[in-house]
Amino acid sequence: MDHQDERSLQQRREDSENIGNNRSTNPTMGDVIAARFNRRDVMRGSLAVATITATMGPLALASARKAVAATPNFGFSELEAGVDETHHVADGYSANVLIRWGDPVVKGAPEFDPLNQTAEAQAQQFGYNNDFIGFIPIDGADDHAFLCVNHEYTNEEIMFPGMEGRQDRQGFSKITPELINVEMAAHGGSVLEIKKVDGAWQVVKDSDLNRRITAETDMEITGPAAGHDRLKTSADTTGTKVLGMINNCAGGTTPWGTWLAAEENFHGYFWSEIDDEGKAILPEDHPEFVNYDRYGVPGGWYNWGTAHDRFDITKEPNEPNRFGYMVEIDPADPTSTPKKRTALGRFKHEGGETILNKDGRVVVYMGDDQRFDYIYRFVTAGSYNPDDRSANMDLLDEGTLSVARYNDDGTMDWLPLIHGEGPLTAENGFESQADVVIETRRAADLLGATKMDRPEDVQPSPVGGKVYAMLTNNTRRKAGDENIANPRAENAFGHIIEMTAPDEDHAADQFSWEILVQCGDPSVAKVGAVWNPATSKDGWFGMPDNCALDSEGRLWIATDGNALDKTGRADGVWALETDGDARGTSKHFFRVPVGAELCGPVFDTTDETMFVAVQHPGEEDLEGNGATFENPGTRWPDFDEALPVRPSVVVITKDGGGTIGT
Ligand code: FEO
Ligand code: CA
Ligand code: CA
Ligand code: CA
Repeated sequence: MDHQDERSLQQRREDSENIGNNRSTNPTMGDVIAARFNRRDVMRGSLAVATITATMGPLALASARKAVAATPNFGFSELEAGVDETHHVADGYSANVLIRWGDPVVKGAPEFDPLNQTAEAQAQQFGYNNDFIGFIPIDGADDHAFLCVNHEYTNEEIMFPGMEGRQDRQGFSKITPELINVEMAAHGGSVLEIKKVDGAWQVVKDSDLNRRITAETDMEITGPAAGHDRLKTSADTTGTKVLGMINNCAGGTTPWGTWLAAEENFHGYFWSEIDDEGKAILPEDHPEFVNYDRYGVPGGWYNWGTAHDRFDITKEPNEPNRFGYMVEIDPADPTSTPKKRTALGRFKHEGGETILNKDGRVVVYMGDDQRFDYIYRFVTAGSYNPDDRSANMDLLDEGTLSVARYNDDGTMDWLPLIHGEGPLTAENGFESQADVVIETRRAADLLGATKMDRPEDVQPSPVGGKVYAMLTNNTRRKAGDENIANPRAENAFGHIIEMTAPDEDHAADQFSWEILVQCGDPSVAKVGAVWNPATSKDGWFGMPDNCALDSEGRLWIATDGNALDKTGRADGVWALETDGDARGTSKHFFRVPVGAELCGPVFDTTDETMFVAVQHPGEEDLEGNGATFENPGTRWPDFDEALPVRPSVVVITKDGGGTIGT
């Protein structure tokens, strides 16, 4: 979901979304870079190559001088950028729909009946707004796997007939308790057993392994906050059991074959009485006031609290402390209980991509997607056991959560959030590690973390110790903060940071870092974009969101927020060179239909298939007008007047077979 100020369709979500509640005085990324470079250097957009060199930290420069392309270059014919009612892929490739919102998932699920959708049917069918996709091979096969898909949120105005536009907190007049239950069933995730049949991936229909997770699935809370008083409610006096996961955006998979589903904008689902300004707040003397204020709780994006007391904070004031976690799910056991791993912190989690460190510990990289919030890392205490899967199943309950501070000498520090160390003491309201993880943001404020431009996916490469962080945009960064690494006030187009673990040790206390690209149109000087000049008019993009690395370490970027009136192009997938002379060159590969964003790119084990998630297609039309069920911006993917527009997972393959992007 994109939440830019300019996007009137999303005003209701804007109020408490990414405006930023970080009132700490920590230096912004801008302050840090200002200490290194002056503004004049930043604006030399025409000297793109020189600027890329200048943005490198000293450590990175040393390695760049001897740079030889370590990963193969991309070798496909570039797609033309643009926007229309359908999807497009580069010449020589095919893109076919695998599964759509409403398609049966669970064995015996009813067929999709969009005019008479029920919660019971939806809970067995593919959910709405597919986001993260995890590919988990079954028994090591290349042609048999679990596809684990997050369903981030719902667009009621194009899901249900008769809405007459997006419902919001000024009324929600059309959203009945029955529709609330459909929305809750359309959230969560899907586990799909998929098989390659005659060279094409298919969902195995009526598989006993297929599963839906919803906003009402039984889950367990584990780790430091489990059982804490701040997590106890009238329905769960133990503080260890919770119903459902919500707003699962990006995610990850683990070396032991589980799925990490990140809970992002959880605040939007909580509700209370609304004040004169339409803002729902807790009284200032409430013990959770500071905590909830930092997270924007209650956001009031949905009216679930009118039908389910647990989403009304005046009735269940601790329920919001039970959301905002990384959820681990074992797809191999459809009866398994998903676990909220509180050791990985509580924030607006975007992604949880992992890497097996060379010492056997597992490292998870995470972003907190809000303007001026932070980048995090979790390192397990124990080591991965490749010979005993069960020994790994609770590895994520113990370890060290750290937050990133970027230094002005091209290094960065991972600052550990450990109770009792530094300012994380009872004096500051942290009685135990439970308080540290429940109020991760406030703990990170006190440690002096670097305020970022909305961290989305943060993903390690399988090779070279590289980690890529997508910083999607930050239009609230004021003039005076701009500088060479975070160079634009009103940063509408975002940038990508490359971090390097020393000697490929992802658990090291200190990394180096540099900017890979600054996004936007390089032909408009005031945008201040920085690409390799070999990038074509179709090759540049704005608003990086998700990313994927193929097994050779080549970087693929997915975007959220491109549109005709912003960048003259739809969202999609771009291939971005990271090595040698081509470094910083971007090429357009796939684009989505009007209104959509592109999520969840992931490769199969052979790199011969890329799975992508097309999210909220048709929520606006080609003129930028808001859509309804009756008049969607497109009827993708079925183009059948009897069917609504449907978020779908798409399978991309090379015609005649072969590795994608070569
Ligand atoms: Fe759901 Fe940060 O995007
Ligand atoms: Ca997104
Ligand atoms: Ca995202
Ligand atoms: Ca990713």
